[in-house]
Amino acid sequence: MANVQVTTRQAYRRTDDYTPGKPRVELVTEDLPLPLAATSVLIKVHAVSLNYRDANIANGGNPWPVTPHGLPCNDAAGEVVAVGEGVRTFKLGDRVAPIIDTENLTGRESKRSWLAADEDGVLADYLVFSEEKLTKLPVHLDWVEACLIPCAGVTAWTSLLGIGIGKSVLIQGTGGVAMIALKLARTAGLKVILSSSSDAKLERIRQQFSNPPLLTVNYATSSQWHEEVLKLTNGAGVDLVVEIGGTQTLVKSMKCTRRGGTISQVGYLSKQNTDDLAEFLPLLIDRRINLRGIDAGSRLEQEDLCAALSATQMRFDDVIDKVYDFCQADEAIEDIWQGRQVGKLVIRIG
Ligand SMILES: NC(=O)c1ccc[n+]([C@@H]2O[C@H](COP(=O)([O-])OP(=O)(O)OC[C@H]3O[C@@H](n4cnc5c(N)ncnc54)[C@H](OP(=O)(O)O)[C@@H]3O)[C@@H](O)[C@H]2O)c1
Repeated sequence: MANVQVTTRQAYRRTDDYTPGKPRVELVTEDLPLPLAATSVLIKVHAVSLNYRDANIANGGNPWPVTPHGLPCNDAAGEVVAVGEGVRTFKLGDRVAPIIDTENLTGRESKRSWLAADEDGVLADYLVFSEEKLTKLPVHLDWVEACLIPCAGVTAWTSLLGIGIGKSVLIQGTGGVAMIALKLARTAGLKVILSSSSDAKLERIRQQFSNPPLLTVNYATSSQWHEEVLKLTNGAGVDLVVEIGGTQTLVKSMKCTRRGGTISQVGYLSKQNTDDLAEFLPLLIDRRINLRGIDAGSRLEQEDLCAALSATQMRFDDVIDKVYDFCQADEAIEDIWQGRQVGKLVIRIG
């Protein structure tokens, strides 16, 4: 281990008390696992971003198993402040982020271990990770922007993989994943159709992405929104859908995907009702749809995204809604639970 005198950390642990009005997380002081193992890295965390999943877990709603009283959140950005004697990839001062499925290094591993579910998350001022579970971060992003990379960033990146310049993509909603997917898609030269339940949001985003004009559809006021997507693609359908809605939207997404096109299934926001999937199999076959599940991505994919962000100097400052202090963690979790955000909520630490 190199330097730094810290031996304890401040961390938020879930209370697992779902009583209305009670805090969902509490601040604790706990010992760090020192001395560092040979391949471990001690990280001073500077920012953690929130995802809907964090509020869902904190309110007992996660469909997958969760460690009791674990640390929430899976998106952190920080600085290396000490390294074990065998660490080769990182040095003091490097800007790093853990990957969110810590078993998914190359994309070929069969096991999974999600931060903030199967193991502790990242809502703490110091973290220790094995070097193989970390990537370096682009230096042009500040901490608040950089912490969006592991979850929303990597998910948007893997959703768009395999589609090239000039192809068309439908991106659903204006949440964190969707907005980063929109930025990546426009940079990659794709024809983007963005859907939202809000004309005001669509208008604002059209102004932001005015050249070439952004194509948009309101999925709330137009129940047959897939027909509008078909019209915008001369009846053929889009090459790829970044599917956010889930059960309620999937069949319509298939109807407006071109024959042989791809649907990247990212979200599950709508009410899960299998009646909505009655036409699923005939459509899958007739339209030869490639339906692929997205679970964020591997360490290699996180590295690829960081390389792309560095090459393009893409910023995320325009997708940040609100920045909280560390002491406001419970408020931030409640805000995302209530869906008050437009874009990303971030907790700044130290
Ligand atoms: N598979 C993965 O690896 C992965 C990773 C990250 C997130 N996710 C999932 O992806 C989904 C979105 O995550 P996020 O972090 O981007 O959420 P978010 O920031 O909370 O954004 C949610 C947005 O989705 C749109 N939306 C809501 N219901 C919809 C529906 N029925 N059809 C179409 N759009 C709808 C809304 O946009 P408008 O307000 O504009 O209508 C809403 O603002 C969640 O289900 C999340 O759990 C999955």
